Amino acid sequence: MLTIDIISVQPTMFRGFLDESIVARAVKKLACKINIINLRDYAEGTYRKVDDKIYGGGPGMLMMCPPWFKAVEGCLEGKSSRSRVIMTSPAGRKFDQKAAEELAKEEHIVFMCGHYEGFDARIETLATDMFSIGDFVMTGGELAAAAMTDSIVRLLPGVLGGGVAATASESFSNDGILEAPQYTHPVDFRGMKVPEVLLSGNHAKIEAWRKAKALELTKERRVDILNSKL
Ligand SMILES: C[S@@+](CC[C@H](N)C(=O)[O-])C[C@H]1O[C@@H](n2cnc3c(N)ncnc32)[C@H](O)[C@@H]1O
Repeated sequence: MLTIDIISVQPTMFRGFLDESIVARAVKKLACKINIINLRDYAEGTYRKVDDKIYGGGPGMLMMCPPWFKAVEGCLEGKSSRSRVIMTSPAGRKFDQKAAEELAKEEHIVFMCGHYEGFDARIETLATDMFSIGDFVMTGGELAAAAMTDSIVRLLPGVLGGGVAATASESFSNDGILEAPQYTHPVDFRGMKVPEVLLSGNHAKIEAWRKAKALELTKERRVDILNSKL
């Protein structure tokens, strides 16, 4: 079973995420285990300080080595060498569906959520991976860790109602392109009709329509995906 440890200075940020979501359901179903670890539990002194001024000058504070080394080493104690330790950072590899699929096969993942101006550069030596969720800067790594956890956990066996089929035809899966448009009841809403072929019951035709539409949509919205396959 996959265990995910998330180290953060704002552990309460994960409350809603862990109490009321598909992720919460996955934990209940024992598809995975998620531990939220307060970095300050590994800090010293009355104020449990985790950050300090930056050598060489510059605005803001930087996260210090000692609590991070203790916290990550604590998570790795007794675990196999296959653990993935993921530093969240705008400078990391761009997280995508392939990365989620790859991580869903692991047994132990540790997420490191940075804050302030980020991490002392030496903390990077703890990480096996560094991931960014996009080219923008957030105040902390919690939302990045939550987004990655969500996309990983929904791939675990038994988590989604439809099983493997629920994720197999989604955007970025299989051939890596976007998903075709989908429709539900009613057939006619304010003059906008569900395409006839989807009501035909002809599975081969429906499949062909979906493939063509998925390609059309990808050309229109994400031509970069198609170009990357050339
Ligand atoms: C304010 S940011 C630090 C930014 C850093 N000074 C820089 O310029 O790259 C604080 C923390 O938020 C997290 N973070 C911010 N943006 C992120 C992104 N796009 N993806 C993943 N983590 C991010 C990281 O953990 C980071 O250490």
